[in-house]
Amino acid sequence: MINFLCPECKKEIDFQSKRPALECTNCKLQFEMINGVLKFTAKAQYADSFSTEWTHFRKTQLDSYNGTRISEKLFYEYTGWQPSDLKGKRVLDVGCGTGRYLEVVLKEEPESLFGVDLSEAVYVAAENLLPKNNRLMLLQCDANHLPLPDQVFDFVYSIGVIHHTPDPYKTWKNLVRLVKPGGRFAIWVYGKGRGNRLPSWIPRPIYLYQFLANRIIPSGTMLKIVLSYVPWAINLNRQPLIGCITRQLFPAIDYKGRFPLSDEMLIEWACLDTFDCLTPKYARTYTVDEIIGWYKNNGFCDIKVGKHLVSVSGEKLLT
Ligand SMILES: C[S@@+](CC[C@H](N)C(=O)[O-])C[C@H]1O[C@@H](n2cnc3c(N)ncnc32)[C@H](O)[C@@H]1O
Repeated sequence: MINFLCPECKKEIDFQSKRPALECTNCKLQFEMINGVLKFTAKAQYADSFSTEWTHFRKTQLDSYNGTRISEKLFYEYTGWQPSDLKGKRVLDVGCGTGRYLEVVLKEEPESLFGVDLSEAVYVAAENLLPKNNRLMLLQCDANHLPLPDQVFDFVYSIGVIHHTPDPYKTWKNLVRLVKPGGRFAIWVYGKGRGNRLPSWIPRPIYLYQFLANRIIPSGTMLKIVLSYVPWAINLNRQPLIGCITRQLFPAIDYKGRFPLSDEMLIEWACLDTFDCLTPKYARTYTVDEIIGWYKNNGFCDIKVGKHLVSVSGEKLLT
């Protein structure tokens, strides 16, 4: 059993006594339980695009939905862990989205699994996973203010999340305290120069689209735009000569040949990941050495670089 701490006064809150709402007996703050999710945060503006993304693509990347093992394979490639490592352990997924990696971990029967997300995605994760899993606890909260005590988790992971926060290093450091001594912490963040085939000085239309998506076009409208152009753009972009030009004009993330998906699913994934690439307010990129430096300078050993740039995991020193 893990007790919650009030994000405001940091005192322990008695969870059992107050279902469906939680109240801090010290500062009297109340936290609602909505559809099985404990809500600890007010709406965060910068996560709006993720709410739009995940409330539309509710199941797309869940292995149980698309009939593949893509998320399972990616999870172990990112973290470098083995399925058997997780059995009977306390695990935390930071930025769980709709729960693709929660689903993977649940198969290994952890003692408990916590999934947290700042956006509305966590309610979709609840709909996808809570009915079948009593080891799962879902929280809507900010990774920088998790209402959880120090050193309680054997495994903490955050895949594709930290680079989307306003100060990624600070977010990463705020998560370190949750890892038990001897526990492991794995992240995947965007690598520097990813997907850039052209020299960086050549202006690319995608920069304009990202600017518009961030500052001017509401995320709901952006979703409609993506859903209407991506299905034909991926076909155009696959054409031998003209594709070099259309790929710049109509960016669309195409997993053909990379993931074993049907044509229909390839379009759904392309729409999802193109929207995901155009809309986030923050999207920092890193080198492997930068991330290794974070681990080295903050008391981690056995630092391993995963298969995908930039995925790194480390073991917290016993001190
Ligand atoms: C690209 S999605 C990745 C979701 C999931 N990890 C996956 O790989 O499918 C990034 C997620 O991070 C969440 N997120 C962003 N900033 C966060 C923060 N400060 N605290 C918690 N979650 C955050 C977003 O709401 C979004 O669901």
